[in-house]
Amino acid sequence: MTIKEIFDSMAYGPAPESASEALAWIAKHNGTFGHFIDGTFTAPGQTFTTANPATGKPLAEVTQGTAEDVAAAVQAARRAQPKWARLPAHKRAQYLYALARLTQKHSRLLAVLETLDNGKPIRESRDIDIPLVARHFSYHAGLAQLLPSEHPDLTPLGVCGAIIPWNFPLLMLAWKVAPALAAGNTIVLKPAEYTPLTALLFAEISREAGLPKGVLNIVTGDGTTGAALVDAEVDKIAFTGSTSVGKRIREATAGTGKALTLELGGKSPYIVFDDADLDSAIEGLVDAIWFNQGQVCCAGSRLLVQEGIAPRFYAKLKHRMDGLRVGDPLDKAIDIGAIVDPIQLRTITDLVAKNPEGDHYQAPCPLPATGSFYPPTLITGLGTASPLMQEEIFGPVLVAMTFRTPEEAVQLANNTKYGLAATVWTENINLALDIAPKLKAGVIWVNATNLFDAAAGFGGVRESGFGREGGWEGLMAYLKPSQKPAALKPAPTPAAPTDPQVDTLDRTAKMYIGGKQARPDSGYSQPVYSSKGKLLGHVGIGNRKDIRNAVEAAHAAKSWAKTTAYNRAQVLYFIAENLSARATEFAHRLQDLTGKPGQAEVDASIQRLFTYAAWADKYDGHAKSVPIRGIALAMNEPTGVIGALCPDEAPLLGLISLMAPAIAMGNTVILVPGQHPLSATDFYQILDTSDVPPGVVNIVTGPPQDLAKSLAGHMDVDAVWSFSSHPLSALIEREAATNLKRTWVNHGRGQDWFAPTSEGRAFLAQATEIKTVWVPYGE
Ligand code: NAI
Repeated sequence: MTIKEIFDSMAYGPAPESASEALAWIAKHNGTFGHFIDGTFTAPGQTFTTANPATGKPLAEVTQGTAEDVAAAVQAARRAQPKWARLPAHKRAQYLYALARLTQKHSRLLAVLETLDNGKPIRESRDIDIPLVARHFSYHAGLAQLLPSEHPDLTPLGVCGAIIPWNFPLLMLAWKVAPALAAGNTIVLKPAEYTPLTALLFAEISREAGLPKGVLNIVTGDGTTGAALVDAEVDKIAFTGSTSVGKRIREATAGTGKALTLELGGKSPYIVFDDADLDSAIEGLVDAIWFNQGQVCCAGSRLLVQEGIAPRFYAKLKHRMDGLRVGDPLDKAIDIGAIVDPIQLRTITDLVAKNPEGDHYQAPCPLPATGSFYPPTLITGLGTASPLMQEEIFGPVLVAMTFRTPEEAVQLANNTKYGLAATVWTENINLALDIAPKLKAGVIWVNATNLFDAAAGFGGVRESGFGREGGWEGLMAYLKPSQKPAALKPAPTPAAPTDPQVDTLDRTAKMYIGGKQARPDSGYSQPVYSSKGKLLGHVGIGNRKDIRNAVEAAHAAKSWAKTTAYNRAQVLYFIAENLSARATEFAHRLQDLTGKPGQAEVDASIQRLFTYAAWADKYDGHAKSVPIRGIALAMNEPTGVIGALCPDEAPLLGLISLMAPAIAMGNTVILVPGQHPLSATDFYQILDTSDVPPGVVNIVTGPPQDLAKSLAGHMDVDAVWSFSSHPLSALIEREAATNLKRTWVNHGRGQDWFAPTSEGRAFLAQATEIKTVWVPYGE
């Protein structure tokens, strides 16, 4: 081609990045890798091949980790942990800073190796992934430095297990390794089987940084290796991957006491209003869905366009798609690289082929003759129920439908089981900021998309998982209180007298649902005796149906979340005032039930209500300084409907300690009282007279085991807390896997509810979800 012809066609010539340095690094290891355990590479075991998806050619042989390999890595991490945790924070900060600097130093090698192994364009690995990795370590060097002065009462969890997917191999490593190490934990990480190489190179870099042996361990392998790590003697699992594997891990860790964070799949809406800057919205889509072959979990893969502009927008979009270049990912002039593996390519191809509905448009870009490539695809005119609209495709396939009004946009956007991210394009700031709080997602981008930063929390709601990565909030998931409050023993339940006047069909026993006293569905109730054996009354025996009714009532009361924090504070003060007016009566009741003076518990309950009335309008979000033209707002939103199994140790104080933070933050609750439920049923009258809207607090009495199962298995409950002394934790965590609701359980350990550590931020954090809203700000 002559220069004149090039000027006419503006065709790009190839501009490939050289692979020689990366290939030389692989060759230095004889093309075969063992694991990285206790500071050294082990001899390779049984291996599998990792290939370059752009050519199909093998890159290296990598060891399939066995349960023994995993155990050896966990032991090395366990040995190294106490010393690592005892290091002065500044020393840990220096190591993290060194990792950041060395990432920068080796950035070209890391970027090329990432592109070779994953197939993503070098422009993405070089300009996005690797700089974000360095930023992550640098930011966490800062967190490590500040941790002891900011949170002197927290301590590391111990050994963390991390399992990551293939779409951002090194970035996901950084998201797990940086906070784990900053907090004083050691780690065993299993990279995805398709993309293990940059993790192994990073292990080598950690040696260059002088990281003490055993602090970072890498075990390669497939899902069975991952499952072995989940089962190993670790204190936490941090997982990023598919929702189905996330659910399996939730079940496998149920009741083990292992901490768990899950960053799972998504089908994120990308909403374009008719006044949007259409060209920017289109470039956003190129970044979100095509630049990374659609292999971004939070990508705006579900396009919702306002009806009036849809034809024009689709036409512009198709025009842009036609100009995209698919090809050798090492070529800097390429927009779309290779799909990570032929298996993934087949999944995408099959999903699209099996669902012919809608208008399928594939850009006529020439595809390379070999390797795993898929053309940029747009499918318009789909219905909400179409599998293409609901299921993750995880490929360069954008599905689209139209909406008429902002309300419809919100409704369509939320019509998914996922809740990872959402993008909103409009030039109308009122509209954007009206929509953002209504979207059910952990991250919202306004007039931008796919922005990430170490300071800004990232993570989902619903079946996109739980927990946040990034910022102080991400670090919290790697820490625990240094001192557990001493346990209180529950007062024994008085035995029935030998000649009881039992009326098990007592008709007066009521529960409290939707602001009304409700008869138990079973019709049965249980007699309650004083500590001296006197019949005090009856409590209903609740069942699944009662829980269902309570959940319905709690949902109907969700406008509580929209009342002002000031209003919620006032209601809490009012509850305290009304309890205070009847303090003596409640104290007597507690004495009758437990045989111990009750005044101190009533006083502590009033004080706790004051604490959360105070917090209601002070547990604020944050504005995060991110290195872009904009700001990331971390907004605290209510978790939703919370089911709570109340403690047995302090019948009134325990119940209030769970109810008050939940309702202060705008949640609605279903409380299952612990032992001595009569003090809870007396509490109905206080709620009735304190302006608590119906359905905000519901109380269901009955056997905790049965009620816990119904609550944890209910699809419309967002979180379950258990402070019961019954061993319910395993049951709750297992059942919670159905919709991946959040759980907070005490593993049957009692707690001193009078202690100051039994209130405050830890409770408020459980009562809220952080929504990160990225908005343009400043110049
Ligand atoms: P995957 O869930 O199959 O694999 C993820 C990792 O889990 C891999 O390392 C794999 O070896 C391991 N694994 C598989 N089975 C396991 C088991 N039974 N126990 C323990 N570990 C097991 O997902 P894949 O295909 O690697 O990644 C794509 C998925 O990840 C997509 O669904 C995507 O949406 C999600 N993802 C989510 C992100 C987020 O931040 N929420 C980020 C990146 C990907």
